[in-house]
Amino acid sequence: MSIEFSAERRSFHLRSRDTSYVIGIEKSRYLSSRYWGRMLREWRGPAELPMVERPFVPSSDPEDPRFSLDALPQEYPAFGNGDFRFPAHQVLQEDGSTITELAYSSFRIIPGKPALEGLPSTYVQDEDEARTLEISLVDDLIGLEVVLSYTVFEDLDAIARSARILNKGKRPLTLLRALSASVDFEGSDFELLHLAGDWARERAIVRSPLRSGSQLIESRRGASSHQHNPFLALLSPGADEDSGEVFALSLVYSGNFLAQAEVDRLGGTRLAIGINPFEFSWLLPPGGSFQTPEAILVHSSTGLGGMSSRFHELFRSRLCRGAHRDRERPILVNNWEATYFDFDSGKILALAEEAKELGIELCVLDDGWFGQRDDDRSSLGDWSVDKRKLPLGLGDLASRVGEKGLKFGLWFEPEMVSPKSRLYAAHPDWCLHVPSRPRTEQRHQLVLDLGRSEVRRYIVDSVSSILRSAPIAYVKWDMNRHLTELGSAALPPERQKEAAHRHILGLYEIMGEITRAFPEVLFEGCSGGGGRFDPGILAYMPQIWTSDNTDAVSRLKIQYGTSLVYPCVAMGSHVSAVPNHQVGRVASLEFRGAVAMSGNLGYELDLGALTEAEKGEVARQVAEYKELRKLVQFGDFFRILSPFQGEDAAWIFVSRDKAEAWAVYCRPFARANPPLPVLRLKGLDPGADYLVSGGWGVHGGDELMAAGLPISLEPGDTRSCCLRIKRVG
Ligand code: DGJ
Repeated sequence: MSIEFSAERRSFHLRSRDTSYVIGIEKSRYLSSRYWGRMLREWRGPAELPMVERPFVPSSDPEDPRFSLDALPQEYPAFGNGDFRFPAHQVLQEDGSTITELAYSSFRIIPGKPALEGLPSTYVQDEDEARTLEISLVDDLIGLEVVLSYTVFEDLDAIARSARILNKGKRPLTLLRALSASVDFEGSDFELLHLAGDWARERAIVRSPLRSGSQLIESRRGASSHQHNPFLALLSPGADEDSGEVFALSLVYSGNFLAQAEVDRLGGTRLAIGINPFEFSWLLPPGGSFQTPEAILVHSSTGLGGMSSRFHELFRSRLCRGAHRDRERPILVNNWEATYFDFDSGKILALAEEAKELGIELCVLDDGWFGQRDDDRSSLGDWSVDKRKLPLGLGDLASRVGEKGLKFGLWFEPEMVSPKSRLYAAHPDWCLHVPSRPRTEQRHQLVLDLGRSEVRRYIVDSVSSILRSAPIAYVKWDMNRHLTELGSAALPPERQKEAAHRHILGLYEIMGEITRAFPEVLFEGCSGGGGRFDPGILAYMPQIWTSDNTDAVSRLKIQYGTSLVYPCVAMGSHVSAVPNHQVGRVASLEFRGAVAMSGNLGYELDLGALTEAEKGEVARQVAEYKELRKLVQFGDFFRILSPFQGEDAAWIFVSRDKAEAWAVYCRPFARANPPLPVLRLKGLDPGADYLVSGGWGVHGGDELMAAGLPISLEPGDTRSCCLRIKRVG
């Protein structure tokens, strides 16, 4: 049983493969965080948490001065009645008060996992895969009910948490804060880890000591952003890739988020994640309800590697969905860095012809095929083909690409409008704006107000009609700016602070409708590269363009950091031209290939400009990736050497049955007189023998993992060594 309630101990024990999570009910009212960590056979903790009387602390029980909310580890804390740490929820009432007193009311345990209304979430395919505990808390004075939901994925070893907030009273309530999960730890001897960066350098691993006071990461940009990822982890001191405890939260959401850790006066830690309360409020009329996004809780006692493998497996198999979830993904060529806006059907067909010769399977036409878009100054919103560039239309181009044996893919940026467009001329109020204020542009574009149903209808209809007009097998769904003048002409003044979340709900509705209507189309998310690489998007689009930075040396860190939370199959990774367009570096083609082949392989350059020798190398990479891709896309991934700790990086993909593996060692920069690095493999069967490519012969799995292989690389920058490993006995 993955969820047990003990009436005697007044507690719930949630148990998955290696993890226990225990929730207590204190004083018959307050929900407490009692334990989160390694799996316990049984929970026999005290029915009520012992407390001591402390000076200068309010007590919530006049009969018991020892009992203080400020010292109680809580599951969904309020503010204003004794707990001075940051709250998980805050509700403004008509009289101006924001005090709430949620008391435990009831619980139910149900098989499987209900879907979240209007929001992406993890799911079960079979009701036996998970069980869900719903705990209801009520504040009778104002008729507030909060239903906390905990789904335990037993085998996948993860817990999905969310809250549903209901106004069962007679007066309107306004949510000021409605986080998805909050959990209190009794100590603070942790390090904090998160993923931070900016455009073209997304998701760098940042690790820092946990200090007294609050540390938070957030987005106020209207999207999850390049700058921070909706993920935060606490690490036991010295935890590394393979050892130590990790407690991680990830939010299935693509908009403004907050993830916070607070070390309190007693040295306890409160960790929480959810929609960013900054500039957020939500009016709940009597009878209304609000669903928070879902937070995923993962505990690992085998370091960051254990954390990542849990996230990878859950996200790959029970967050991603649809026909492509388990299908091998095609190797693509994208014309963006090959032509930018300067293309016509002849150039695209020539690119497809070269691609076919090299074994590439999908030809993607990027930005510039619609309206009159010769640069980024116009036409977003006008989703009709530009006959100047494609005189015979998309149907003809896609069919001619198809005749060459390649599938055809197309770029869209559906959430935007260019002020220079027919759409904007017809509907100037369809964008997010505040009347009489200037509309701040970024990349010469404005953001459509996805909270409005007519805007959503327009987007769904215009994208769908293009998808129906031609054999389109793939869509790259881009989003190239963040949100300003966040107001909606469709909302009354008291609801203006709902605009950011309504925008994301609208986005999900659009993405859901389109992806369901075109189940055979493979969708790839994108936001100026990796500006929206988050679990919310993955629920609709099983792959995401990882970064606009295609430089393979930069990509070492970007992909390595991304892999902390997201599976490699989700990462679009392309070989591009040299000198690289973002950083000007000249990396070897072998190195560019090794890095790109470690994700979802594509090419993004003028294939016709390659020398014959280079074409030979690309053809080799493509052929090898076809042999390897099941392993890369659906095998287990282990990080070996971090580019955040030294310059070099290494990793290995191992098939589920441990019969096959592919290890990659990358050295970005030459060094004089270097020591020979030793590559210690991971994930193999220690008792099996493996044949290692490159003349290494047969070695035991134990030897390959413990003693490793000394790697010798040619002198020079951007050298790589890839080893194919096959079980032979
Ligand atoms: C940003 C994307 O990340 C690029 O790959 C490309 O599609 C451009 N937008 C096109 O405008």
